[in-house]
Amino acid sequence: METRGSFASLCVAYNKYGDDKITDNMNIPQMEAWFGEEEAQAVSLYLKGNLKGRPWNAEFEKAVGDVTGASFAVSSLNGTISLTQALLALSLQPGDEVLVPNSTMIATPNSCSIIGLKPILIDIEEETLCLDLVQAEKAVTPRTKAMMYVPLNGRSGNMDDVVAFCKKHNLFLIEDAAQALGSYYKGKHFFKRHLGTFGDIGSFSFSLFKIISTTQGAALVTNNQLWYEKIKLLKDFGRTGKGPDIHDHFGFNFKMSGILALIGVEQFKKLPWRMKRKKEMYTRIKEGLAALPQVEFIKTDVSVTTPWFMDIFVDDPKALATHLKKAGIDTRFFYPPIHTQEIYKKDYSGRSFPVSEYYAARGLWLPSSSQLTDEEIDYIIKAIEAFYRA
Ligand SMILES: Cc1ncc(COP(=O)(O)O)c(C=O)c1O
Repeated sequence: METRGSFASLCVAYNKYGDDKITDNMNIPQMEAWFGEEEAQAVSLYLKGNLKGRPWNAEFEKAVGDVTGASFAVSSLNGTISLTQALLALSLQPGDEVLVPNSTMIATPNSCSIIGLKPILIDIEEETLCLDLVQAEKAVTPRTKAMMYVPLNGRSGNMDDVVAFCKKHNLFLIEDAAQALGSYYKGKHFFKRHLGTFGDIGSFSFSLFKIISTTQGAALVTNNQLWYEKIKLLKDFGRTGKGPDIHDHFGFNFKMSGILALIGVEQFKKLPWRMKRKKEMYTRIKEGLAALPQVEFIKTDVSVTTPWFMDIFVDDPKALATHLKKAGIDTRFFYPPIHTQEIYKKDYSGRSFPVSEYYAARGLWLPSSSQLTDEEIDYIIKAIEAFYRA
């Protein structure tokens, strides 16, 4: 089990001194990176040259394959570039349209725009906050070539339906599973399967605040050998092994540094405990706030979902965030709908996306690092209770 510093700074909890006493030294960040001695030691050995020759990236990619069950995994620079890499591997062409959920991190549509593809924004479904297939059906045109499905915060809609939809419309399916490491989908008739492995290519991010991290980094997974070969060519200047300066194909440099892959190998060893902890944290918060009708949760089955962020939905997230900040608790607001972002709004003026607008106006991410203690979680719960009692 991982541990971090003591709980000493949390000395003035709500239940100790009364609801409105706030301590100066309280500081619970919304997210924290978490690296330990193991990563430090491995990096140090690497830099001293003591670990030369070990195939870091292959070890990291094996860990990605083992956890996700995908046949092939390739490391990449970050979860934005890896999505673009997936689109390039599928040979999408400028002007092609890609269906993208309207509630996601901006990297999802940007990964399309950067190579001249047109992200087509689709509203989300209420139950899961993932792309709504009913809305997607209305948006398909002859130019639509792919769907980028985002299992937001480790939750997904019905993946059997998503796959069937893409098949029906002859679309490539890319899963932006940046937030879904350790999360699964279990169909009515199937065993549970890791998210990111249902489509042509899936992408995972290992940026600083993900459940495990390589500081920056990503991995692509696929069960298709052809896409695997293309992803590898794109990553390494189009080299095919004929020599370092023979390039039969066009390619880039999307290679993850070995030192980051090495950090990833150590982090993967910690994934099972962190998954368990995230589930416990989510359950503790949900149960702790169950008596407050003002706080809404998205239905979450922790037997398949590892929540990345502890997300709640309330009438006035700004007021709650201000109250929590005074109590030393950092939060973050849910993603603004993509169609309201300056860089995309010109294409969507006058359009309404009611579900993504509704949840953007209500969403708040509570502290979510897996190193949060139970006492800190209880303090957060008490602070929220105090806000609604006031
Ligand atoms: C859904 C989603 N897609 C893509 C990304 C981009 O990943 P990265 O920060 O590794 O570029 C993120 C990052 O959080 C994300 O949440």
